[in-house]
Amino acid sequence: MTNVTRHGDGADAVPTRDGMAMLGYGTWKLADRETCIDAITTAIETGYRHLDTARMYDNETYVGEAIADADVDREEVFLATKIWPDDLGYEDAIEAAYDSLENLDTDYLDLLYIHWPAKAYDPATTLEAFDRLVEEGVTERIGVSNFTPELLADACDRTTAPIFANQFECHPLLPRRRWREACADHDVHPVAYAPIARQEVFEESTIVEIAAAHDASPAQVSLAWLRQRDVTAIPKAASADHIRENWASLSLDLTDAELAAIDGIETRSRKVDPSFAPWN
Ligand SMILES: NC(=O)c1ccc[n+]([C@@H]2O[C@H](COP(=O)([O-])OP(=O)(O)OC[C@H]3O[C@@H](n4cnc5c(N)ncnc54)[C@H](OP(=O)(O)O)[C@@H]3O)[C@@H](O)[C@H]2O)c1
Repeated sequence: MTNVTRHGDGADAVPTRDGMAMLGYGTWKLADRETCIDAITTAIETGYRHLDTARMYDNETYVGEAIADADVDREEVFLATKIWPDDLGYEDAIEAAYDSLENLDTDYLDLLYIHWPAKAYDPATTLEAFDRLVEEGVTERIGVSNFTPELLADACDRTTAPIFANQFECHPLLPRRRWREACADHDVHPVAYAPIARQEVFEESTIVEIAAAHDASPAQVSLAWLRQRDVTAIPKAASADHIRENWASLSLDLTDAELAAIDGIETRSRKVDPSFAPWN
């Protein structure tokens, strides 16, 4: 039995892909200043070096404060934010990105995502603006989020800078195989949001049984499955215990049979489904 409740394995313990740690920290719903700063401080102390925010989360300023106060240099943190669909016109996108730099109290972003391909998203002009943001050093990388395989292929054809990542909902109850294959085809990193399906994976017997066999938690099993399937995960956790428990998933290695059993789960659940999603 593998005990995976160890804490504080250190930043070196996390596999990285082209500079992006494969286990990051999601900050949606951390909109209260003290809660947000405390949680990010704990996350950084635990070893997380990849922080995921968005203009829509209303916490960029707090994320910036937490990084500035942390005992790590800005360069050690992989910082990602996202521009909301209302602001994806050419000039608006440029303005929003510079505003995010100010909010986050930083000179550059590691990754800037198009949050959703909706509303003001226009492939030609939006992606031209994102290319310009790379040229101007505002962001080192371009990301897309919630892009179907077809939209991803189209975006990849349009930019000068490569599309670095596609962030979408992905967990054992929404495995998104076709989306992951599209990422592999285009050399784009898949990043999973809602990686524990907001706790719903805890109800899935296959996950619960595998967790028990490893003396691990269902959250850790879900995160290990994503990592071993080459998907970066960004679980959100306000609680310090959850932050540390999720980090300890890095010590959990599932067997090929266990990975295959999780691949075979048939339950389906989608947590994020706005009317403007490209699949609606
Ligand atoms: N691009 C997009 O459109 C998009 C959409 C949704 C989310 N996201 C990003 O993805 C991140 C994660 O997704 P999410 O917040 O929707 O869902 P999630 O990470 O699957 O679930 C978060 C919930 O699970 C709980 N939790 C976390 N770790 C746990 C553990 N070890 N044991 C038990 N409960 C645990 C958290 O509780 P506590 O907080 O109480 O600890 C919270 O209620 C977001 O924060 C955001 O950065 C992006």
